[in-house]
Amino acid sequence: MSTHAQATVTLDGKTYDFPVVTGSEGERAIDISGLRKRAGIITLDYGYNNTGACNSAVTYLDGERGVLRYRGYPIEELAEKSRFVEVAYLLINGKMPDAREREEWSLLLNRHSMIHEDMRHFFYRFPDHAHPMAILSAMVVSLSAFYPELSQHRQDEGNEAINIAATRLLSKLRTIAAFSYKKSIGEPFVYPRHDLRYCANFLNMMFSSPVSNYEIKPAVVKALNVLLILHADHEQNCSTSAVRLVGSARVNLYAAVAAGICGLWGPLHGGANQMVVEMLEEMRAQRETPRDRLEKVKNSKGAELLYGFGHRVYKSFDPRAKVIKDCCDKVLKALKINDPLLDLAMELEDLALHDDYFLSRSLYPNVDFYSGIVYRAIGIPKEMFTVMFALGRLPGWIAHWKEAREDPRFKLQRPRQVYAGPGLRHLKPQEVSSEYTVTTSVKS
Ligand code: CMC
Repeated sequence: MSTHAQATVTLDGKTYDFPVVTGSEGERAIDISGLRKRAGIITLDYGYNNTGACNSAVTYLDGERGVLRYRGYPIEELAEKSRFVEVAYLLINGKMPDAREREEWSLLLNRHSMIHEDMRHFFYRFPDHAHPMAILSAMVVSLSAFYPELSQHRQDEGNEAINIAATRLLSKLRTIAAFSYKKSIGEPFVYPRHDLRYCANFLNMMFSSPVSNYEIKPAVVKALNVLLILHADHEQNCSTSAVRLVGSARVNLYAAVAAGICGLWGPLHGGANQMVVEMLEEMRAQRETPRDRLEKVKNSKGAELLYGFGHRVYKSFDPRAKVIKDCCDKVLKALKINDPLLDLAMELEDLALHDDYFLSRSLYPNVDFYSGIVYRAIGIPKEMFTVMFALGRLPGWIAHWKEAREDPRFKLQRPRQVYAGPGLRHLKPQEVSSEYTVTTSVKS
């Protein structure tokens, strides 16, 4: 980080200089932290379109050129050559594990894979139709009650305690996710197995049952690894910012991650993968053509969206969507699946990519456009898609929570506002609660 240049703000005839910060890839930002103190004014930026809230060494993203790197490594390379747990290690620890670290990491992930038996009973108390994201967030925050070792407020918490909490969460989230699914279909839980690797273990917990053993296919394991890697981090997105913001109040890791899970659930963010498949299913059910759907979206004045399209930062293409499309082709071929929703999705994509409405707004397929098709192919039901996104995003949330708390500049995050409500007014007598009305009795 360097701060050689300066930017000048002129306000009411006075000028103020502010340092320009340059990141390691040449990105520049005006550090206006002192603006209010010096000039008595704040900046206003709806939706944080143009506001940086931190320095981060976790992920580099260039939305104009479609570049995404974790700790410097291109995601295309990681998706091809790494396993999800190695990428998780990279994000959390800043380096790829060597052979010994990889071994230790696997052992630790296995050791922490069970959830407390008392927590298992929680699942039975959720209604049958409960969305697995509701269960997931509730179970994650409940981990704070079962594993309170990581205190709320101590900043001198040793690295050891933090590493254990992070490993525990990574391992247990997979178990909780699979148990949520089993609960939703009314089947008994399948416990984690120490002889299986992370993704195979998850698939086994999801799809084995007391009456049938799930056959673990390498093509499915590879596809799951790729999807989780592509979701593993995406710098200051909505859910990660929620983790940082809630974490800035110095809550424990589980509470901060539960906030991230809730943010991810929304259809504009991680919930879009479920929306894409529901949209395609609806089109098929109603025999709606891709052209009709595009017209509907275009004429709706923003009320209807083409889910899986558009992104706040990618304005040329989403590099994750490219890798997923390739993964989708491979897994469907390996499993000999012919999914009519894929044909529909491809037709929609082709039309949208030649349509002025989408081109002029730089709307391209994002990570969620094809991920649902891959999840369907490997047997994951659509209600679980966002849970899968959460499983993938967890290492990123942990890495950001850890990075933030180690940063001496990490202050309580507290945005300001421009007040737009009524001016000073006072309660009328009829607006005062009877509890507080003074009654005077008059004697005649
Ligand atoms: N379909 C139709 N129109 C769209 C879409 C879409 N998917 N996305 C944006 N637009 C239009 C929007 O109506 C607006 O039009 P106008 O200029 O006429 O008012 C224009 O494009 C700019 O949109 P915006 O809402 O200002 O852009 P944003 O940066 O705030 O929104 C977004 C980004 C992802 C929320 C949005 O593109 C969207 O809602 N997409 C669909 C949901 C989706 O797929 N979300 C997953 C994002 S990738 C996973 C993740 O990382 O979270």
